[in-house]
Amino acid sequence: MTLSVAVYERHVFVCTSGEWCPVVDGDGLGVHARLKALVKQAAVSDRVRVNHAGCFSQCGNGPMVVIYPDSIWYAAVTPDDAEEIVTRHLLGGDPVDRLRYEPPTSGAHKLARDAQNRPIGRVAPWPAAGTGDGRQGTAGG
Ligand code: FES
Repeated sequence: MTLSVAVYERHVFVCTSGEWCPVVDGDGLGVHARLKALVKQAAVSDRVRVNHAGCFSQCGNGPMVVIYPDSIWYAAVTPDDAEEIVTRHLLGGDPVDRLRYEPPTSGAHKLARDAQNRPIGRVAPWPAAGTGDGRQGTAGG
């Protein structure tokens, strides 16, 4: 049996092209940009990959981030949370418990919306807003 080496130690996906996470329920584009910048700054781009992703069918709980192979999901992530995710989880291997998203069942968990497009039943503040530096996501995988 041949053992294979992981191409990346950790792979981070951020919902940046769904209908809600990128700009309605928070700043998913900013989350992606900040994570990408911090991973580059930490000089671990050869071990950690941050990618844009489409909708995870968890709409209303986002911005959503998922990290593999850990299979750790984060909800209502702001650009301000990115540094803690990188430092604690991606570099230290210790997930950020306060952001963990652990729905009671597997599969889709899209929240219904009220007349103002507020997700009904959302636990986190809406929209998820940080006091980030205003950077927005740009091109790049
Ligand atoms: S829009 Fe992000 S999970 Fe659906």
